[in-house]
This record gives sequence, C-alpha cells and structure tokens, in this order.
Amino acid sequence: MHLTKAEDRIYDGEGGWAQQTSMKILVRLGELFGAEKLIPIDSAHVSGVSYKTLGDAPIDFLKAFADSGARVTVRTTVNPQSLDLEYLAGKIPQNLREKQLTILDQFRRMKMINSLTCTPYYLKKPVRGAHLAWAESSAVVYTNSILDSFTNREGGPSALAAAIIGKTPDYGIHRPENRRPTVLVNLESSLRNETEFGALGIHLGKMLENKIPSIPALRNSNESELKQFGAALGTSGMVNMFRRRLATKKSVTEEIDVEYQDVRRTAESLSTASNRNPDLVFLGCPHYSSQEIKQIAGLIKGRKVKSGLEFWVCTSCRVKNTEKRSVKQIEACGGHVLAGVCTVVSWTEKLGIDTIMTNSAKTAYYAPTLNKAKTILAPLSQCLDTALKG
Ligand code: F3S
Repeated sequence: MHLTKAEDRIYDGEGGWAQQTSMKILVRLGELFGAEKLIPIDSAHVSGVSYKTLGDAPIDFLKAFADSGARVTVRTTVNPQSLDLEYLAGKIPQNLREKQLTILDQFRRMKMINSLTCTPYYLKKPVRGAHLAWAESSAVVYTNSILDSFTNREGGPSALAAAIIGKTPDYGIHRPENRRPTVLVNLESSLRNETEFGALGIHLGKMLENKIPSIPALRNSNESELKQFGAALGTSGMVNMFRRRLATKKSVTEEIDVEYQDVRRTAESLSTASNRNPDLVFLGCPHYSSQEIKQIAGLIKGRKVKSGLEFWVCTSCRVKNTEKRSVKQIEACGGHVLAGVCTVVSWTEKLGIDTIMTNSAKTAYYAPTLNKAKTILAPLSQCLDTALKG
C-alpha cells in the first residue's frame, strides 16, 4: 500500500504510540483487502460502547490510548451504551454502572461526540458521495443505500483507528465499481408492515453473504420501512448496501425470487415465545427519529401502559431533547423514552425481563442470545395494543 511521506512518518512513530498503532491497524486492513492508498474521511462512528457487549478486556486498551494523548481528528460519534441515566441507571448494580462510565470517559477524553446512538445520520446527515468510516451495521446499510455516502462496515478498532488518523483504506464499497448490484431480487408480493420489511432483510441477509442486491419492489417504500429492512439485512449477513433501482443486465450475475411465504416464515421464526404476554414492549431499534417519536406520542395519547408491563421507546439524547412534548406525552401514558441506550445492549435479564415484544426484526434476531429473552415480533399497532389499555 502506498503511503504519503506524512503517513509514513506516523507509521514510524513520529506522532506517538496511539497514532502509530492506528496507522498500523489501517495499513494492515488495507493490505488485507488490496487497498492502494488511504483516503480522507468526513466522519467516523465507533461501536463497542456498551459495557455489556464490550466486556473488560478492551477497557485497558482504551485507557492507554486516551492516556497517550490519542484524539480524534474528524467528527466521531459513538453507539448506544448499556443504560440510560434517568431510568435504568438506578436499577443496575453500581459496579456495572461504573465500568460503563469508565468506557464513556475514555471516548470523551479522545474528543468523540457523546452521541450514544445507532442513527448518527439523524444528528448530522452525511453528504452524498462522502467517504466515512462507520461501524454499526444498521447505520452502514442506511448511509450507503439511502444517503449514498460511502462506508465499509468497520469494526470497533478500525473505526477508532480511522477516527484518530482521519483516513480509511480505499477498498470495498469506497470504490464506485464495487457499489454495483450483482443480485436481482424479485419480490413476488407487497409487504404489509415494518416487521415484514425486517423479516425480508433477515431472509435476504442469510442468502446474499456480502453481495449487493437490487430490489426494485422497494422503490416506493418509506424511510421507516427501509430502515427496518436495512437493519435486518445487516444483521443476518454481511450485506452493506442495497439498491432500489433496477440493476442493468450486465452487472447482474444472479436472481433471487422471494415469495410472501418466505417472508412470513422468517417473521414467524423470529417469535420464540409461546404466549403473547411480554414483560417488555420495545420500540426504537434502530433508534427512533423525531418523526417516529411524534408518531408514537400521537398514537398512544389518552391511553395507559398496562400494569406489570414495561414500555420502552429508545432514541438518541438529541432527539429526546428536541422532542420534549412528545416525550412527556409518552411518559404520561406510563412509557419510558430511553436515550442513548438500546434494549439489546442493556441488562434486561437483570431487570427480570423474560419476554420482549418488538416491531424490530433486528432485536428479535438478537434478543434470544444477547438478552436471554423470548421474543414476540409484531407490527407497531399490535405492540401498542399489547402495551396499552384504553
Ligand atoms: Fe441500534 Fe440497538 Fe437496534 S444499537 S440497531 S437499537 S440493536
């Protein structure tokens, strides 16, 4: 891989240990994937923030990085943590809270933005055609497919390294020739709700490996449906983008037919509970937008959360702050708007939550392993009817 003179000097240690380590990570990655050079990025998004999923091992490394003066050189946002400070913090053992704070502290020392969200594109929309280094598969699929900015799916360490250096290796879908769809997906029936969009994503993610699909049937789908679809697509496989326009015959090497039965079967497989009595009804995976928070507030006005049941809506701290009126309405109904956290990366099992109902296929896919919970995947209207009376 060709490095400029300035990059070479960083590689040799002129900028200190953290910069050198970051440069070595990027060069290694670039060489592995055949990149010829590094390219500048507009922003980075770092995953591996929740103590629950991160564990103890990387904490010392993050501390050493921050201690040695590592600072990000581009706008850098971070994924959700394992608790929110208003509702969950008081319910979680102190030692876990402290570990979580230690992690956040290191990110803060490195000058990252305390965004704590998997939808950083609602905070600042990346420019079309911009190169980014984002971890968090749902955000990667969204930004490549809907916003048309360019990012590979980074891991936590490579996103951190790119944030420090301000560059990423030029390979994968940073290159226009690798962004052409090679698989045409023929969807033989229209989808009825967001859970079916999610189920389609899970179904295709398993079949596509890392190939880019063209799915003309999604051309008129709305943003929430596409967000559900993309998040699920990135969950069950390594797909990092999809196209909605019809692919040219030249680029397509494969066709997949999807019948409505395939989608229904996948949706059913994502419900593992034998009854319809959840302990928690959860909305907001991926984190809800302002629009979605307002929609929920409007839909549940005048109703009350059933006793003995938790109703959570997850979003970023920014959206929670800007939508105070809707947040109040949701909380007046007995729901909780949790900011900077998500169910999957939080300690639900410590709260006695055994069954989770959600409209998110991604959560339903992960909850049996990451939350040791049974799942009920159901569309928004059914989630609300289960959570609320009146
Ligand atoms: Fe976001 Fe958590 Fe879902 S990080 S995409 S809300 S699993």
